[in-house]
Amino acid sequence: MQNVLVTGGAGFIGSNFVRYLLKQDPTVQVINFDVLTYAGSIENLKGLPDADRHTFIHDDIRDTDALADVFESFEIDTIVHFAAETHVDRSILGPAIFIESNILGTFNLLEVARKNWSGHSHQGQHAFRFHHISSDEVYGALRAEDPPVNEQHAYAPRSPYAASKASSDFLVRAYGHTYDLPITISNCSNNFGPFQFPEKLMPLMILNAMSGESLPIYGDGSQIRDWIYVDDHSAAVWAILQKGRVGETYNVAGDNQYTNKEIVEMICSLLDKMLPASSHSPHKQLITFVDDRPGHDFRYALDTSKITTDLGWHPHETLQSGLRKTIAWYLENEAWVSQIKQRPAYQEWIEENYLKRAEGG
Ligand code: NAD
Ligand code: DAU
Repeated sequence: MQNVLVTGGAGFIGSNFVRYLLKQDPTVQVINFDVLTYAGSIENLKGLPDADRHTFIHDDIRDTDALADVFESFEIDTIVHFAAETHVDRSILGPAIFIESNILGTFNLLEVARKNWSGHSHQGQHAFRFHHISSDEVYGALRAEDPPVNEQHAYAPRSPYAASKASSDFLVRAYGHTYDLPITISNCSNNFGPFQFPEKLMPLMILNAMSGESLPIYGDGSQIRDWIYVDDHSAAVWAILQKGRVGETYNVAGDNQYTNKEIVEMICSLLDKMLPASSHSPHKQLITFVDDRPGHDFRYALDTSKITTDLGWHPHETLQSGLRKTIAWYLENEAWVSQIKQRPAYQEWIEENYLKRAEGG
């Protein structure tokens, strides 16, 4: 692995992965390709370790020529494809961009990668890898009594976001099968950690609780997600790049299944301890139950025995240890928090989504 193209590397997981990769591999060059949507930020890349091994390219995976330019300018041997629209609620309000970026964008990247790869020597082709980052949501919703699903489970995506990710997974598999492009895929559960845009459950609750605003739980809060600390996800991707078998899909999860209500209550009690002088304590009093997400999937749960057995990967953080680190990061990074809160995308989101939901409209 010498020149790694990371798409979406200015987003939450992508920026954490770029940090992880630069630390983990002392010689790798990272080419970070990101269009900087509302969710991406150059602020997420401040203070990268060994930053001279990182090149940022501000462009769009919907633009095939822009992608082709990157392959012409750098001898890319590895692609880690994070770039996507990622918020389920936004996919319900406006699905079109999810189809464009997640499906057509992935198709563009596959096409450009395939053309480039086919021109490599035999050795170069062998060393090449296209790793696609996907989601547990492609398997659809589980009931409380269902066992966690493994990689053989049928796809049954139920939101526009999940359907767009499922489509992109099928395209990646098709390129592996049809053209022998050396692909791998990982389907991961809910990530949390530093640099997550505060439209997602954990950072939204942390920031709202810190400033004494209401904590809007959708429906009755009984839905279950499995949470993974973002560095554990990066370590899983690294393990797949190092040891994963070409053509394979790996489930990745943190083994932390909790209801949304439990998660929000845990955040509140940790904040009570970490901010003993806060006038908002007990933070639990800020919880409000608001209109549910349309088509809200009840539960996701992954069987991760393939990656643990075959690649020896295990998550290191527990929910408690990861949450403490995450809350500490949001408390300590006031400048990051304040620039993100000033973004129109954040303010519009709060106004459009939460105030309307809370009013039941
Ligand atoms: P994010 O929304 O924080 O970041 C996405 C990044 O992709 C942003 O920097 C954005 O600017 C960039 N991007 C979007 N459209 C683009 C385009 N057309 N061209 C170039 N760049 C574009 O998302 P995230 O939570 O970091 O998720 C990253 C990946 O991981 C996604 O593929 C997502 O489906 C997957 N995933 C996320 C989670 C999670 O819990 N967040 C779990 C499993 C899988
Ligand atoms: O499961 C992996 C997926 O996790 C990723 O593929 C997605 O990109 C990522 O956004 C995430 O999707 P979710 O819909 O699970 O994440 P979100 O943080 O939006 O919501 C988590 C749960 O919390 C979900 O059941 C909805 C609920 N929720 C969310 C928000 C933002 C609330 O109850 N209140 C909220 O304000």
